[in-house]
Amino acid sequence: MSAKKTNPKPGEVETTGHSWDGIEEFNNPLPRWWLWTFYACIVWALIYSIAYPAWPMLSKATPGLLGHSTRADVAVEIKRFSDANAAIRERLVATDLTAISTDPELNQFANQAGAAVFRTWCAQCHGAGAAGVLASGYPNLLDDDWLWGGDIEAIHTTITHGIRNTTDEDARYSQMPAFSELLEPAQIEQVVAYVQSISNQDHDASLVADGTTLFAENCASCHAETGMGNRDLGAPNLTDAIWLYGGDKDALTYTIKNARYGVMPNWNTRLSEADLRSVSVYVHGLGGGE
Ligand code: HEC
Ligand code: HEC
Repeated sequence: MSAKKTNPKPGEVETTGHSWDGIEEFNNPLPRWWLWTFYACIVWALIYSIAYPAWPMLSKATPGLLGHSTRADVAVEIKRFSDANAAIRERLVATDLTAISTDPELNQFANQAGAAVFRTWCAQCHGAGAAGVLASGYPNLLDDDWLWGGDIEAIHTTITHGIRNTTDEDARYSQMPAFSELLEPAQIEQVVAYVQSISNQDHDASLVADGTTLFAENCASCHAETGMGNRDLGAPNLTDAIWLYGGDKDALTYTIKNARYGVMPNWNTRLSEADLRSVSVYVHGLGGGE
């Protein structure tokens, strides 16, 4: 590369003096229109960054002289909607839970608001369609098999205070013991066979007699003599085909040995009473509501 600037003859363009293997570079000036547009952009950028939020600082960006904020815009929009709904939300809170379904306007509002609450706060555990997740401990809310009760008041209590959490004193609570410490492995096999028998599954019939006694002594206090469960204790019905954690031999053995202790958060700290009622009405209306 040589860097010898050439002096142009009249009518020729000056070169920069750079030459690569004989290829030279013209020294054309930038077009005037391009240059002015470029300067205008710089001036615009300066003015913009002073007027609007722009430069990132430690905790947030410089606010800008005009005080513009998309977040504030959203807050205004949200407030507009909540003002528009304020009256009906007040009515929802003032109305007796059982009477909501008899007021068509209120019922429709609660169902729509409840569906939105459900998508935001509940779907990640109970599934978008509320069908639960099979054998995961997250119950199906569409069926009429309820752990803690399926009328609107029971559902509202469950959702408000949650289940076995440590954050709400009024949470629903009960605890199945882990029977690996209380029964011999052979006894666990017997009681598993008994549970399989009352839920109409294939089982080892020779174990059922001992299993029956063991069940009456160890399990009936919560699951009832018949195995039909007890809603005061959230103890599931063991005679149907609906399983929270799975009904095959392995799943039953695991459940009985270790117990499960399903936990749901309380929602009263996150949702307003109107939202709690809306989502209760929504869940109650899903099909299994009593
Ligand atoms: C972090 C997971 C989780 C989230 C989120 C969650 N739940 Fe639950 N939910 C559970 C579990 C686990 C149980 C079952 C607990 C048990 O074994 O008793 C449950 C039980 C329930 C029950 C009782 C069902 C019955 O058969 O009695 C209702 C009703 C319910 N959830 C509604 C909701 C609603 C409404 C929301 C959203 C506001 C929600 N849940 C969000 C985990 C969750
Ligand atoms: C202190 C009350 C209590 C006792 C005693 C008890 N259970 Fe439970 N059981 C529960 C509760 C509550 C659940 C709900 C699951 C959980 O812990 O989250 C449950 C769940 C189960 C499940 C899971 C059902 C499903 O749908 O997946 C099985 C099976 C079961 N128990 C069997 C037994 C057997 C067998 C015994 C006796 C050896 C027994 N339980 C004793 C309270 C009890």
